[in-house]
Amino acid sequence: MVKKIFVIVFMSIVMVAFAQENGPQHISLPKPQITGGKPLMEALSLRKSMREFSEREIPPQILSNLLWAANGINRPESGKRTAPSASNWQEIDIYVATPKAVYLYDAKANLLKVVKEGDLRADFGRQAFVKTAPVVLAFVADHSRMGRASQTDKDFYSATDTGFISQNVYLYCASEGLNTVVLGIVDKTNLSGKLGLKPEQKIILTQPVGYPKK
Ligand SMILES: Cc1cc2nc3c(=O)[nH]c(=O)nc-3n(C[C@H](O)[C@H](O)[C@H](O)COP(=O)(O)O)c2cc1C
Repeated sequence: MVKKIFVIVFMSIVMVAFAQENGPQHISLPKPQITGGKPLMEALSLRKSMREFSEREIPPQILSNLLWAANGINRPESGKRTAPSASNWQEIDIYVATPKAVYLYDAKANLLKVVKEGDLRADFGRQAFVKTAPVVLAFVADHSRMGRASQTDKDFYSATDTGFISQNVYLYCASEGLNTVVLGIVDKTNLSGKLGLKPEQKIILTQPVGYPKK
């Protein structure tokens, strides 16, 4: 019995050490809660840009709800999303920066996939408050998913599609009592390099999210 406990404890220590050595892992998000929240007209009344964030972490359930509201799958039979998408190209990806790593939101698997280890929040916007938010989203268009559209159309539609997603984030935040502001003042060349994006991936906007300071 003692030997068995010793083996279990030893194995646990080895696994923790292995996980730490290998950096942050993919995060399997809890199933989003897709009922409840404030009535739409109340959420619209409360929607606003806020630039102050508490350090309080956003729990996994709230993060899952936030990302689903932003651009999750609301019709599993077709794979269509909470935000409309020109030609249903679904070219916008959401990158999620936390103090530990930057992740890519996989809506189908409800998973956050590690893209880059470490705290890159400061690179998601030029303003000082950006790095104080526990979560900063980046909306990135993959132009290679936009068929044979002209460059002008690719730029136009990826910007409009991002606007819908950003507004979904605003409304979820209004409903949940979170602060947020969408940001265009971003050093996109720097951030693209840090995230290792391909030339056809274009950063459109970023959006920090966090609880208000008390
Ligand atoms: C496309 C876009 C880009 C924006 N970029 C920034 C930004 O870089 N920094 C910032 O502090 N606010 C930014 N904002 C937020 C606006 O300043 C804000 O929406 C505006 O002042 C109106 O305030 P409200 O959102 O509370 O209604 C941006 C808004 C939009 C729509």
